[in-house]
Amino acid sequence: MTTLENFAAGMPKAELHLHIEGTLEPEMMIAIGQRNGVELPWPNARAARKAYDFRDLQSFLDIYYRATSVLLLEQDFYELTIAYLRKAASQNVRHTEIFFDPQTHLARGVSFETILRGIELALEEAHRTLKVSTKLIMCILRHLSEEEGLDVFRQALSWRRWINGIGLDSSEHGNPPSKFRNLFERARAEGFFTVAHAGEEGNASCIREALAILGVSRIDHGVHCMEDEKLVAMLAEKQIPLTVCPLSNVRLKVFASMQDHNLKQMLRRGLCVTVNSDDPAYFGGYVNENYSQAALALALEGNDLVRLARNSFNASWISTVQKALYLQELDRYCKDNPF
Ligand code: ADE
Ligand code: ZN
Repeated sequence: MTTLENFAAGMPKAELHLHIEGTLEPEMMIAIGQRNGVELPWPNARAARKAYDFRDLQSFLDIYYRATSVLLLEQDFYELTIAYLRKAASQNVRHTEIFFDPQTHLARGVSFETILRGIELALEEAHRTLKVSTKLIMCILRHLSEEEGLDVFRQALSWRRWINGIGLDSSEHGNPPSKFRNLFERARAEGFFTVAHAGEEGNASCIREALAILGVSRIDHGVHCMEDEKLVAMLAEKQIPLTVCPLSNVRLKVFASMQDHNLKQMLRRGLCVTVNSDDPAYFGGYVNENYSQAALALALEGNDLVRLARNSFNASWISTVQKALYLQELDRYCKDNPF
């Protein structure tokens, strides 16, 4: 590893854009599939990995939902979540805000209770043994109707002690934020934090809509904001966080290569950008690989990396006190590891 990669890897950081179903490594998918008697289109992990060659977001989602079909039991959700948390801890992630997609599991007859008990068991273990703090975000699938989203939202209310935020994911084309106006109004009224994927494949107007109509406090991806100078000025002024996922954007052909990614321009414009892994089992790396590959391809400087880590804590939903402690740890790291 280069000095820059080592520095990035050692930094304490938060991860704010991570789909737990997207951490299902092919080996685990095959093993759980066999255990649960679920048939898959790939005979082994190698064949699955070979199929992970995506044209765009939809071609990825088709495979991602198929792979997710092996998850049936509480134990499956526990194993999936604890494996991610161990990996995150090993990469110096101190805090992580995790998405889950209940609708994809409910449709297969898996209960809300099974999903949440499995995930929660792992989160609780991570707090205790890995010293990683967590928040949980329930994502609504935007390719389904708002009524279906509201149905799952009502179910979630019985579990709200474990759910901190409501998000919006899946196919952006043809499913604008405005489709979920009522649901997000309810979510905010119930006191949930709210976020939405916007400006990943969609244009800057999707980001404007997510902010103005859904009232979200953070944008997931948001890389297309750079097409709209006035929007950029507003995002910078209000320091609205954008959870950018460089490897995901390259694998899903949002950018032709990492050298073409606009992360550095976003940083230079003073935006509150963070670096995250999205679906690390599919996109070639966890959070540290996202930092290091972006840093190398874009010639990021030490200061940029520290800014990204600082933003990750500032953009998180942890308490002011906890935030100050993490930021102090980051400052100490920078002092002890002058770059
Ligand atoms: N679900 C999982 N990963 C996603 C992504 N990158 N965009 C939209 N929905 C997703
Ligand atoms: Zn995502």
